[in-house]
Amino acid sequence: MVFIQLCVAFLFLVFPVCKSQASDKYIAAVYEHALVFPDVTEKPITPAEALRMMNINLDILEKAVKEAAKKGARIIVTPEDGLHGWHFNRETIVPYTEDVPDPQVNWIPCKYPQRFGPAPVQERLSCMAKDSTIYVVANIVDRKTCNSSDPLCPSDGRYYYNTNVVFDSEGKLVARYHKYNLFTGEEHLNPPKEPEQITFDTPFGKFGIFTCWDIMFYDPAVILVNTLKVDTILFPTAWFNFLPHLSAVKIQSAWAMGMGVNFLSSNIHNTSIGMTGSGIYAPDKPREYYYNMETDEGKLLVSELDVHPKPSALYSVVDWNLYANSIKNFSPATNVTRVVIYFDEYMFTELTEAEGNISICHGDLCCHLTYRMAEKRKDEVYALGIFNGLHVVEGQFYLQICTLVKCKTTNMTTCGRPVETSSTFFKEFSLSGTFGTNYVFPEVLFSGVQLAPETFKVLKDGRLISQSSVSSKPLLTATLYGRCFLGLSLQHELIRLIAAGV
Ligand SMILES: *[C@@H]1O[C@H](CO)[C@@H](O)[C@H](O)[C@H]1NC(C)=O
Ligand SMILES: *[C@@H]1O[C@H](CO)[C@@H](O)[C@H](O)[C@H]1NC(C)=O
Ligand SMILES: *[C@@H]1O[C@H](CO)[C@@H](O)[C@H](O)[C@H]1NC(C)=O
Ligand SMILES: *[C@@H]1O[C@H](CO)[C@@H](O)[C@H](O)[C@H]1NC(C)=O
Ligand SMILES: *[C@@H]1O[C@H](CO)[C@@H](O)[C@H](O)[C@H]1NC(C)=O
Repeated sequence: MVFIQLCVAFLFLVFPVCKSQASDKYIAAVYEHALVFPDVTEKPITPAEALRMMNINLDILEKAVKEAAKKGARIIVTPEDGLHGWHFNRETIVPYTEDVPDPQVNWIPCKYPQRFGPAPVQERLSCMAKDSTIYVVANIVDRKTCNSSDPLCPSDGRYYYNTNVVFDSEGKLVARYHKYNLFTGEEHLNPPKEPEQITFDTPFGKFGIFTCWDIMFYDPAVILVNTLKVDTILFPTAWFNFLPHLSAVKIQSAWAMGMGVNFLSSNIHNTSIGMTGSGIYAPDKPREYYYNMETDEGKLLVSELDVHPKPSALYSVVDWNLYANSIKNFSPATNVTRVVIYFDEYMFTELTEAEGNISICHGDLCCHLTYRMAEKRKDEVYALGIFNGLHVVEGQFYLQICTLVKCKTTNMTTCGRPVETSSTFFKEFSLSGTFGTNYVFPEVLFSGVQLAPETFKVLKDGRLISQSSVSSKPLLTATLYGRCFLGLSLQHELIRLIAAGV
């Protein structure tokens, strides 16, 4: 049975009903923000100066909030670090921080700004939400004092958390989330002691929230969907595009599709550091997305979503290794080139003919590809790649990846290097692998870093195949990105086994 076709059939079936019941759908907005950075200083500036800087960004965000509300949006997401950037140490961050109380205190900062001491940023965000009658999601730094009664208390007596805040349409603080999986450059911040699973209910569905690099981990991201059954994920991020696999729009759309949720992602826009890629994604396809390395302006995206998105998640309906395990009598490639992509050593084998069947294996993972190009160009090389192992930089996670990529040049050592354009059309491809996990995220990217969900589909037997009826663009990559989410003790066991060479 064809999964995507099923969804389309489903949409047709319910569409007349939806139209008569307005509450089945809602309008969401995300804003890709061209952040105005404060000057980097050695010494802390005054709180008043810090506020003046943040107000420059808040003025821009406020325009976006008003515009989104005018277009009927019920909620708007703004990016991680969207008020002040990230060039700080533990001293220079201080004037930018505010104490963010537990939302249980039932607080509307716009009405009672001084209730918990000075909180000018929360006051402003709350007023934006209240004045435009829209939920506002923003990212600020929460400050908490601690002392020696807490053995983990930092020596300067404070915790600083990368924090998402949500204000409802009356300006009330309804959610506070402290980012757990911090990235390089956030050494001045602290993770919370345990991951926090933060959800809140609205008239337009149940929401969960996490931040940026959290998307690579099980807790809280996967738990919010699997256990807490949220309808929509809110995702403030400041994401550098790592092509081919960690391009912002590709990973966001794959996560929405793989997990079966709506996904609202807001990124910083700064082309000189490769930051762009925001979107409003439904499980069946992106509703709106933005990737733009040409201009320096921010961008508001607004689109309609289902309050309770169907279809169910791919991990629960697809048997990811069924087809690949049925393939017998194949000979895995022996002429392989080893290439390191983002600290992981992949093996690649070239697609030497215009069409064919090739396989590549590493340990218990075999990747199989059947393909037919419109023509085999001399100036472009494509390769089938595999990675099956533990990623150990910026946190540890076990990956199983089968990927068809356009290599950057015709030299095989450049396979997996970032490349944004191509000229080779694939009339057909079918990619599968003997995955040991149900969490496999399908990612397909076309020339110009474009998504085109209508040009591929996932079959119930785990094949990622092209839709031959749909004319597509030249291909950049087609990837099955498998994540093995293990408990920590299992993960340590695995590291031990790998170290022992088993
Ligand atoms: C230390 O912190 C704890 C918990 O926040 C608080 O109850 C206590 O009063 C503090 N002690 C001092 C000496 O500040
Ligand atoms: C992009 O980010 C850098 C800091 O990483 C900053 O210096 C530069 O001004 C930003 N560019 C724009 C157009 O804001
Ligand atoms: C191995 O692959 C490289 C790159 O695709 C190719 O140039 C070379 O001829 C191949 N060697 C053999 C023995 O097939
Ligand atoms: C690839 O394999 C399929 C069956 O798995 C077969 O029908 C097809 O002819 C093969 N193609 C090539 C080019 O070897
Ligand atoms: C391919 O690139 C590698 C690494 O840069 C280089 O050592 C090798 O000579 C190149 N091969 C060809 C055929 O240009």
